[in-house]
Amino acid sequence: MPDPRPIGMLDSGIGGLSVLREVRRLLPGESILYVADEGHLPYGPRPREEIRAFVCDTIRFLLEQRCKLIVIACNTANAAALHYAREHFPDVPIVGMEPAIKPAAEQTQTGVIGVIMTSATYQSELFASVVDRFAQGIRVEALACPELVMLAEQGAPDTPEAQAIIAQYMEPLKAAGIDQLVLGCTHFPFLTPQLQAQLGPAVTIIDPAPAVARQVSRVLEQRHLSNAPDGSASVRYVTSGDPDHLRRLLNQLLGEQHADVGAARWAGHRLVTVEDKFPLG
Ligand code: DGL
Repeated sequence: MPDPRPIGMLDSGIGGLSVLREVRRLLPGESILYVADEGHLPYGPRPREEIRAFVCDTIRFLLEQRCKLIVIACNTANAAALHYAREHFPDVPIVGMEPAIKPAAEQTQTGVIGVIMTSATYQSELFASVVDRFAQGIRVEALACPELVMLAEQGAPDTPEAQAIIAQYMEPLKAAGIDQLVLGCTHFPFLTPQLQAQLGPAVTIIDPAPAVARQVSRVLEQRHLSNAPDGSASVRYVTSGDPDHLRRLLNQLLGEQHADVGAARWAGHRLVTVEDKFPLG
């Protein structure tokens, strides 16, 4: 039996759209409900407990909207809350992500890899354990880059000011001799052209989003949750911030001109929709 319920995706803002675009490419028959918690952006500088609460409250919202699977499309949220969320919501499959140290460590020729992420991810046990598991004998140059989140959130402008910020972050990584750069924050794939311009063609940039999309596909199949690709799939976006901002960014980053964007607001620990167009489908 095809399952037409939507996949629920969440991020602090537009970052998870880098994962969403890969999920849509791979699974065009699936409906998606995407929550951008822009009312709380950025997550990166926040304490773990606070991020956990936002993530669990958002998942509860997505489950109220009948989502069949959750994708935590935010490295910071995963670092703070993936295991916690799986314990709290054992009945729904939750697909997470971690910095892609493994492929970087396998591919490096120089033995030096760079990883850029938020402060919360940098300080997390998850990051320490990924390095421990996959980067034995490899030098890992890790860097928290909070300003890059804000650049992506402004639509990844290619201005001299933006280039200067990116150059400042990339300088020490270049000097260390990296030949792989792991994007450990879902906002960063939108800055790939600017990052590549700073690093030069010899550095490979690793975006984990296609691998996350493949994992979503596998889990849907294993759990018999796939939809039939019958042309009825829809994608809806909800933000706890400004819907016009998200609409503009969807146009700029994904080329979506008529995106279905709704507003939500936080009422204590509950995320509630401002309109009555729910649930999806
Ligand atoms: N997109 C998020 C990540 O992957 C974080 C951005 C933020 O809110 O600081 O880490």
